[in-house]
Amino acid sequence: MTTNLQTTINSENQIFNHPQRFIKGWYWVIPSRKLRKGEVKHVNLLGRELAIYRGTDGKVVTFDAYCPHMGAHLALGKVEGNGLRCFFHNWKFDGEGNCVEIPCSGKPLPIKLKTWHSQEKYGMIWIWTGETPDQPLPFPPELEGEECDSAFGSRFVKNCHPNVVMINAIDAHHFNTVHNFPVEINFEKQELNQNAITFSNTTRGGEDSLFLKLVRPFYQKAVTYSMCYWYGSTGTVTVGPDFLHFHIMFTLRLLSEGKAEGQTILITKKRPGIFGWIFNRVILWLTKLVGNYFAKGDTKIFQTIKFYLKTPIKADTSILQFIQHVEQQQALEWETWQEVISNK
Ligand code: FES
Ligand SMILES: [Fe+2]
Repeated sequence: MTTNLQTTINSENQIFNHPQRFIKGWYWVIPSRKLRKGEVKHVNLLGRELAIYRGTDGKVVTFDAYCPHMGAHLALGKVEGNGLRCFFHNWKFDGEGNCVEIPCSGKPLPIKLKTWHSQEKYGMIWIWTGETPDQPLPFPPELEGEECDSAFGSRFVKNCHPNVVMINAIDAHHFNTVHNFPVEINFEKQELNQNAITFSNTTRGGEDSLFLKLVRPFYQKAVTYSMCYWYGSTGTVTVGPDFLHFHIMFTLRLLSEGKAEGQTILITKKRPGIFGWIFNRVILWLTKLVGNYFAKGDTKIFQTIKFYLKTPIKADTSILQFIQHVEQQQALEWETWQEVISNK
């Protein structure tokens, strides 16, 4: 363990496990199918109240929720073409948030609603919590640039911070104690870019383990397992034999009081033709079983934990590295989404 890592846990964390902060990035909002053309919905994302709608062109638009006229919630309004009309006094805003019509008044005022960049992927609507997005939507590194098929797994709430749930995937120690893995897991970290970090299992050897003898024909390494973190609260697990990897995304967001709400998304690369489609349904179903196994094993821990890594040992090194990575990100404040100026 390096001195640098010691410093990380000995000082107050600015972001990691902070109940009022999160990392600037892409966050899931609602499933795409829950927002049809012409529909508007209210959402509270990371403490901020938003109105989200789909215009007749199919594009998703996200506004700050309160009307600049008198503060009515815009999700009570009506979608008209690609714009939104406020329910209260019928002011109309276009997809860029410009006021384009004020009934009973000659011409609209030069005011603009705050809009947020929205994208759709894996059947989900995502919002970038800053101004112009400068990072991609989360993806499993192995599937970079691939067209993907996906399905939803479980939706869950945990009684602790998303960052704390996230470290479970690289808590090498607990794979033996909670999940009874018969091998010691060692991780190697690699920074993919400013926001994404991967921890890959490097375990080899253990020739006398019966488990390893059984799986040896399928694995070059003892277990193929890696976790890629995006924005500290979305992680993609890649696991499986060398010829077939399963990809499970655990995407979490901060709730009030530092709790976590998450969604599991099962991902595989698109395969051509009807047989490809059928094959992918089977793969996604199998991936769901793997995902459920990872999500449910530690449930009671996350209902009761008061996280504080007081006594780290060597097996906790990856966790310390993850905390250090999170601490280097741009933090935003809950509700205002304002950038936190680091005092480090
Ligand atoms: S409050 Fe929206 S138009 Fe008056
Ligand atoms: Fe676990």
